[in-house]
Amino acid sequence: MQTLNVNLGDRSYPIHIGSGILARTGELLNQVGLSGKVAIVTNPTVAQFYLEPIQAALSKAGFTAVPILLPDGEAHKNSISLQMIYDRLIAERFERKSSILALGGGVVGDLAGFAAATYLRGVPYVQVPTTLLAHVDSSVGGKTGVNHADGKNLIGAFYQPKLVLIDIAVLKTLPRRELIAGLAEVIKYGVIEDTALFGLLEQQIDKLVQLDSDLLSQTIATSCAIKAKVVEADEREDDYRAVLNFGHTIGHALEAVTGYTELLHGEAVGVGMVKAAALSMRQGFCDQISFDRIVRLIGKAGLPTEIPGKVSLASLIQAMEVDKKAAGGKIKFVMCEGIGKTRFHHLAPSEILAALSA
Ligand SMILES: NC(=O)c1ccc[n+]([C@@H]2O[C@H](COP(=O)([O-])OP(=O)(O)OC[C@H]3O[C@@H](n4cnc5c(N)ncnc54)[C@H](O)[C@@H]3O)[C@@H](O)[C@H]2O)c1
Ligand SMILES: [Zn+2]
Repeated sequence: MQTLNVNLGDRSYPIHIGSGILARTGELLNQVGLSGKVAIVTNPTVAQFYLEPIQAALSKAGFTAVPILLPDGEAHKNSISLQMIYDRLIAERFERKSSILALGGGVVGDLAGFAAATYLRGVPYVQVPTTLLAHVDSSVGGKTGVNHADGKNLIGAFYQPKLVLIDIAVLKTLPRRELIAGLAEVIKYGVIEDTALFGLLEQQIDKLVQLDSDLLSQTIATSCAIKAKVVEADEREDDYRAVLNFGHTIGHALEAVTGYTELLHGEAVGVGMVKAAALSMRQGFCDQISFDRIVRLIGKAGLPTEIPGKVSLASLIQAMEVDKKAAGGKIKFVMCEGIGKTRFHHLAPSEILAALSA
């Protein structure tokens, strides 16, 4: 097991990464000062594989575990699921010292985290992510929240967990399409911050898809370290944390215009990164060789690189303008300057349209 630290003063916490470490959940929770009641927020898909093992690990360390099963899927990341969590916590008489454990992908993590941020004005919580996307991205950094009928993640809070426990063995049951979607975020870290990571992915991305344990641990740890560094520098996304949105402005717009059903988030980000790199090249920030490498790696991962034919560019631009990052008529874009370096640049919708039509 390897351990990284997210350094945020009195809100600091460890990230443990290893294979089979789910069995150590109870002991690792004890280490950060947790005991007593713990609510395991999860869904039936994840529960069928991991609820029993985690319950056993928790009771071995003296915890009283209360499972809370929510319906699976992004469509249920809403206030109805949140209410279900509150109802159970109240019925089970959870107190300020009781804790919440999120066992699942980003949907469960965001929901459980927001419930923890708000129940009794905040109870401790722990992330036990089970998708690759959640391993490298959503479980670290303290963004929690739910969707509103009018948009994604409109209700939320910054609230850091006490611990992140990443057991890479859980990826064995994750559908391959979900695994590949998670790779989009790993590639993103390479493009924005880490040429060595990018080079490693170019050489060995196939081995990651085949779940090579050593390589997985290494790349997940590198990804979490980058995310931690960015969050430490700008926890509440006043400015710099927005580098994590590389590929996401177009990606989010694509998800919105395709009704959030056709493309997985990582797939939309795959296309979004290709288009962001194209925009960067057009603006003179990125060279042709780097652009070609980015497109090749995204394709090699098995991610889409082109906007689906039926999506109109006009609708895409419209979706970007309503995105919360649009300000003053211009849209704030993360541009890549080759591989491993970025800069922010504001673009008018007409300039984006011109680049996407080229
Ligand atoms: N908080 C953040 O910083 C942050 C960052 C990125 C994304 N997100 C959020 O994360 C969500 C997406 O997360 P996701 O991609 O993990 O999707 P998800 O949580 O919907 O999980 C994908 C699917 O895989 C299933 N699953 C999870 N683990 C499994 C396993 N080990 N074996 C078999 N099946 C498994 C889930 O039940 C689900 O059906 C979005 O809501 C997004 O907004 C949050
Ligand atoms: Zn993302």
